Amino acid sequence: MRIGLNSKNDWKALVPVLNRYPLSEVIIHGRTAAQMFKGEIDNGIFEEFSKQLNSPVCYNGNIFSLEQFQTLTEKFPLINRWLLGRGLISNPLLIKEIKTGVKTSENEIRSALELLHGRLFQINSMRLSGSSHILNKMKPYWEYFAATFPERKKGLKKILKSATLETYQQAVNEFFRN
Ligand SMILES: Cc1cc2nc3c(=O)[nH]c(=O)nc-3n(C[C@H](O)[C@H](O)[C@H](O)COP(=O)(O)O)c2cc1C
Repeated sequence: MRIGLNSKNDWKALVPVLNRYPLSEVIIHGRTAAQMFKGEIDNGIFEEFSKQLNSPVCYNGNIFSLEQFQTLTEKFPLINRWLLGRGLISNPLLIKEIKTGVKTSENEIRSALELLHGRLFQINSMRLSGSSHILNKMKPYWEYFAATFPERKKGLKKILKSATLETYQQAVNEFFRN
């Protein structure tokens, strides 16, 4: 859950409600819903909120690198549940980095992304009908896939401009090859 809809104080009214139930976990993202992904995560509120809950708490939000994860584990030594979203779409090996403490190379990330992209493309091609539906589903992922490769702007542009599955696949192959 977010800490509120529009106000950073909304969570306070929810504490007694959440504490009334034997929840296996409460996942907290320290932004309001209205913020979407804009602005900073409010770690102070995360801490205050999590301390008032009886259920186990999971931290969520903006974990994009091993270093960020390590900073958060130092800040919140009692938290042992972490949910990663966009960071994993940008680098599917981030979990491995976190578990081993060892950074992965750009080449390893690229191979992992190629596999992830291939699987997502396959699943979405089976679920959706028509090339525009498939492309509309796949293209937004590229904001995250391309994050590790800021120098491949042209390649990304080609992917986002593609209008057929063939030109899309070709642009994707080029992106991963270059
Ligand atoms: C592509 C995408 C799909 C998501 N789908 C869901 C979903 O189906 N249900 C949900 O509760 N959250 C969903 N989320 C939100 C994530 O679970 C997570 O709370 C959010 O991305 C913040 O974490 P992050 O900063 O690690 O990305 C989605 C996020 C992204 C980027």
